[in-house]
Amino acid sequence: MALLNILHYPDPRLRNNAEPVATVGAEEKQLVADMFETMYSAPGIGLAAIQVNVPKRIIVIDISEDQTQPMCFINPQIKRREGEEQMEEGCLSVPGIYEPVVRYRSIMVQALDRKGSAFELEADGLLSVCIQHEIDHLDGKLFVDYLSEMKRTRIRKKLEKMRRQTL
Ligand code: NI
Repeated sequence: MALLNILHYPDPRLRNNAEPVATVGAEEKQLVADMFETMYSAPGIGLAAIQVNVPKRIIVIDISEDQTQPMCFINPQIKRREGEEQMEEGCLSVPGIYEPVVRYRSIMVQALDRKGSAFELEADGLLSVCIQHEIDHLDGKLFVDYLSEMKRTRIRKKLEKMRRQTL
């Protein structure tokens, strides 16, 4: 197990497009374990492989309060979308920033689990929002992209300043 380094906005590597996973092998299983450890220690409720600079279509999520419901989605695809939901979102790659984003309220997603078995899941509320947020990462998209240009610029400047102060 190892803690992975999380990329921060506006790192251009967060814009990479993740490739589908052909087979869930030892390397992917190790990555998933490391991603859970990294997400739990942050702490956060979702993490995409892109955020730790691995351009593979893998996400981990745990929305429980006591970190007891780990969920892994490999090659996730949203098959059904319904309704609208606005929630305040944050992101481990955009630390300290929380802004409301409108997403689909409920979705049906197909994916492989951490062992490589296919599954289907209906999700709504926070889990639905979290899955959509993480799948966006796989396509090089961040939640700040849904905000106004002005807000995004302000956030970018704030994070760049924070980064300079910690270097
Ligand atoms: Ni995120």
